[in-house]
Amino acid sequence: MKTLVVYYSYEGNCRFIAGQLKAALDADVLELETADTRKRQGLAKYLWGGSQVFSHAEPELKPFSVDINAYDLVILGCPVWAGSPAPALCSFISKAAIRDRRVALFLCHGGGKGDVFGKLRKRLPGNTFAGEIDFRSPLRGDREAAAAAVRDWAKTLA
Ligand SMILES: Cc1cc2nc3c(=O)[nH]c(=O)nc-3n(C[C@H](O)[C@H](O)[C@H](O)COP(=O)(O)O)c2cc1C
Repeated sequence: MKTLVVYYSYEGNCRFIAGQLKAALDADVLELETADTRKRQGLAKYLWGGSQVFSHAEPELKPFSVDINAYDLVILGCPVWAGSPAPALCSFISKAAIRDRRVALFLCHGGGKGDVFGKLRKRLPGNTFAGEIDFRSPLRGDREAAAAAVRDWAKTLA
């Protein structure tokens, strides 16, 4: 099974999960990067990120090259921002036109994931969903427990 992990991470949590998935599934990995690389901190970070969500922004991404159709399983992951998927992943979904794929989803959040899986599924019509998993900011908690959860989840996808 050829697996691709596509993710966005602003503060490293989703990057950590993507790394565990790569190891568990021998997956190819694409990290999405926004063209705007400025790092906001504190309140400014939440205002900036929240305003992107509320204005339905799809920020420009740095160029990437990937053939989605070459993969049996596409795993998409992002942080939850203001009860929604981080806009950079929405930019990718709009650009990549993912169809007729097996798709799995992962999220990192601070404790309020809302209906972000549902929102992502709506953006991905015409695909089959193989699984979903979420993590509460794994870099702040028990990383080995999160890694073990990823390995268990990966077994259900393989
Ligand atoms: C702009 C912004 C908005 C956020 N909104 C939420 C939210 O609505 N619910 C939640 O549980 N966490 C929220 N968070 C916390 C992140 O989802 C959480 O820290 C996540 O683990 C970050 O993943 P990352 O390190 O891969 O960027 C928000 C973080 C940012 C920066």
